[in-house]
Amino acid sequence: MQSKGNFALIGSLLLAGNFFISSLFADGDPQLSISSDSGRFDAKKGEALYRASCQGCHMADGKGASGAGFYPSLAGNVRLMSAETTLKTVTNGLNGMPGFREYLTDDQIVEVVNYVRTSFGNNYKGAVRTADIPK
Ligand code: HEC
Repeated sequence: MQSKGNFALIGSLLLAGNFFISSLFADGDPQLSISSDSGRFDAKKGEALYRASCQGCHMADGKGASGAGFYPSLAGNVRLMSAETTLKTVTNGLNGMPGFREYLTDDQIVEVVNYVRTSFGNNYKGAVRTADIPK
């Protein structure tokens, strides 16, 4: 992380954090329903998971955003070619991106990773499985 622009970055992380927390607790949207005993998302499908967990930062078209913060495009992003790296990023987070280990089940992490690697014009080979999730 560069020191220049740190304040703007921190501000945007706080904003993103607020967005993230409020989306976790949003009521009424069936895709966001949280089962009371697990506290995890209930969404099953990769697309629904993407909408609930990722599109707030990476946008509906997967092209990301820049302005108050920088959210990389997932569309046409060669880094997603590595299934392993993508899985690790989503599981553990990366700098301004939260890790999803606490919020999604292993199945859901796998679904959303396979979804982003094969959506928005991406067509990367090699689906991940729950056994691939880093410990
Ligand atoms: C709070 C905002 C936020 C949310 C929510 C979020 N991301 Fe990210 N994501 C980021 C930021 C910021 C980065 C860039 C991290 C870096 O490189 O320092 C990033 C990076 C990535 C990368 C790596 C891209 C690259 O060029 O290295 C992938 C893959 C990714 N996100 C997928 C997802 C998926 C899938 C979800 C939903 C499960 C998600 N993200 C949710 C903010 C977010």
